[in-house]
Amino acid sequence: MSQLLVRALLQTAAGVLCSGLTTLIERRRRARRERDDSNNGEQKGTSKGLKSFIGIAGTAAGVALWMQYNNTTVAAEPVVDAEPVQEASINLDKFGAQQKGLPEYTLDDVSKHATLEDRIWVAYRHGVYDITDMVKEHPGGDKIMIGAGGSVEPFWDLYAVHKSPHVLDWFETFRIGNLSEDDVGAHMVDSSDPYGNEPRRHVALKPASKTPFNAEPPLNLLVDNLITPNELFYVRNHLPVPDIDPATFALEIEMEDSSEKTLSLDDIKSFPKQTITASIQCAGNRRSEMFKVKAGKGLSWGQAAIGNATWSGARLCDVMKHLGYDENNSKAQHVQFEGIDVDPTGTPYAVSIPIEKATDPRGDVLLAYEMNGLPIPRDHGYPLRVIVPGTVGARNVKWLGRIIISEHESDGHWQQNDYKGFAPNVDWDTVDFKKSPAIQELPVISAICDPLEGETIKVIDGKVTFKGYAWSGGGRKIVRVDVSVDGGKNWQAVETLESDSARHPRAWGWTLWKAQVPVPDGTSEVQLCVKAIDSQYNTQPENFENIWNLRGVLSNAYNRVNINVDL
Ligand code: MTE
Repeated sequence: MSQLLVRALLQTAAGVLCSGLTTLIERRRRARRERDDSNNGEQKGTSKGLKSFIGIAGTAAGVALWMQYNNTTVAAEPVVDAEPVQEASINLDKFGAQQKGLPEYTLDDVSKHATLEDRIWVAYRHGVYDITDMVKEHPGGDKIMIGAGGSVEPFWDLYAVHKSPHVLDWFETFRIGNLSEDDVGAHMVDSSDPYGNEPRRHVALKPASKTPFNAEPPLNLLVDNLITPNELFYVRNHLPVPDIDPATFALEIEMEDSSEKTLSLDDIKSFPKQTITASIQCAGNRRSEMFKVKAGKGLSWGQAAIGNATWSGARLCDVMKHLGYDENNSKAQHVQFEGIDVDPTGTPYAVSIPIEKATDPRGDVLLAYEMNGLPIPRDHGYPLRVIVPGTVGARNVKWLGRIIISEHESDGHWQQNDYKGFAPNVDWDTVDFKKSPAIQELPVISAICDPLEGETIKVIDGKVTFKGYAWSGGGRKIVRVDVSVDGGKNWQAVETLESDSARHPRAWGWTLWKAQVPVPDGTSEVQLCVKAIDSQYNTQPENFENIWNLRGVLSNAYNRVNINVDL
């Protein structure tokens, strides 16, 4: 057995153990939720999306499938990061089609291979696959185990990312046989589409993936306004969007002594209303530039997975104090947040932030119900999301359903096994997610948004004009933006900076900048560059080679745009 495989098995076994622990916790939470649901006859924040999930999860066949592997694997597993949208016209029928000359297996045969010892088999359409050696390579981690010994189709209806030629091509390499004709389709559960009730989106948003929906606005529209219009704000979803009834919505808060409190939307609105301007940025913003150095795993974001909005709501510190949180008598180290969006195992999107940030009145953490003066749109967390200004987008939990004041970090996948940085030499064989802390405050970043790569622009009075944004995490203000028109040999500070009036260390919003720089006579091709400097004099790294990481996060090297100039 190769070393690689041994390591894969060990890691998977560790993952399964971990999952087992998480399962217990999740089961407790789910049991509590189910109990509450049956008591109230109503689900908290009644969600059609959630109902379709539960519709799927609830059918006997579906549950049987999920349990087939064994209970310990049905847990807080990683959710696969979606891959780029595929052209609708690509025909995927050849994948999983009947193949002459291969042995035939029944679903019963497949079900006998549901553990690492017995090897892991799954069925997809007419095909049977032995995926034992693939488990470790799976971008979604051991989530794939929920389909072990059965069909992966019900899960791929949900994680639709799998239905793309390059994923299916790879999957076909694990093919070992054909599924008996009688069993093809026999696994299908309630097929109501979990993505059947997504909100309407602005046509200008360019999807990086459709299910779950992830999209950024056109780059050259991004910096037209200091405040990003709601319709053009990038969207980063891991799961279907819940459809929550504000009248029945209830936010649960678990205090340190395990007592439970519940607040309605009106309760939250009764706290003093605070409004802040804050940019939210995905950890993977500008990933596509980093992956030009070397490919990695993650959505191919351009430079527009960031937006700047005003957010209004109750301060988390006020709410916690009102509920009895007393920092002098507290051992809490973290505040955990759970979304109402859940995966097929019932596990919600869950992350946490340090207690210091949560309870600092000047940390401005909000339980926000308005975005740019309007109820928060569904894609952005209606009716309630937490805004953790200066902190990576992933901690700004949308559709907030539960807060836990705790000595521990969230055990959620997105806290433990994603949104972390690693050294450039770390690859998928060597990565140990326990070794890196979860990203919280983001580093300084900037980008050129207009003109776009390859455009031809007019030289007016011997100068080229270009513009973009700059931002830094942790409330650090942008104090200077430097630009270059010769690929970074010579630099000059930009004269026009626009931002709101907030000061360091509460400068949560971005700065827009506009540069007008002379180009040397006779130049026809120019490389524009930008780097920003924040109020702690941090600046950006020069290139991506030095900061490359396998998940393509924290991608903040100088931004470079090649253009042609029309003299
Ligand atoms: N909250 C929940 N409940 N579910 C999610 O999928 N995505 C997170 C965060 N909060 C997410 C979430 C990530 S990774 C980002 S970058 C931001 O939301 C994106 O916020 P936006 O879609 O409003 O731009």
